[in-house]
Amino acid sequence: MINIIQSIIPLIFAVNLAYCFNKNRLDGEHDYPKILNSSNFDDYVYDKEYATLVEFYSSYCGYCKRLEPRFAAFAENVINWRSVVKIAKVNCEDLANIKLCRMHKSKTYPTFRFFGAFHKQDEDGIQISKARLVKFYL
Ligand SMILES: *[C@@H]1O[C@H](CO)[C@@H](O)[C@H](O)[C@H]1NC(C)=O
Repeated sequence: MINIIQSIIPLIFAVNLAYCFNKNRLDGEHDYPKILNSSNFDDYVYDKEYATLVEFYSSYCGYCKRLEPRFAAFAENVINWRSVVKIAKVNCEDLANIKLCRMHKSKTYPTFRFFGAFHKQDEDGIQISKARLVKFYL
């Protein structure tokens, strides 16, 4: 439970601050949210001093497509907080990511998971309710 709280707090913190200072932008960071796949996921997400919020999406999911510009804008808004919380996405239509997505996706796309700082590989990220995330942050 403590772990969960410790994981969630930086996210809420980052998002609220970004909301207040949403002019916080960096030029020249075009691959953000970070695109992860089966080759770089583990290295980027596990056992790091920062937390990562990951969207597992499908390029065939209409809702994911409609959400994409908002998710991108959200990522851009919190980019200056990337030393605390990073934002990433995984395309589950990519055949190379099948195993990765089977491990982390819930029943429907998109699935958002929050991997806290120093997250261990053997536990899955906390699933963040799509409805909540969209309502309050996207
Ligand atoms: C994963 O992404 C990296 C960086 O974009 C790329 O170099 C690599 O080939 C990709 N791996 C797979 C399995 O698609």
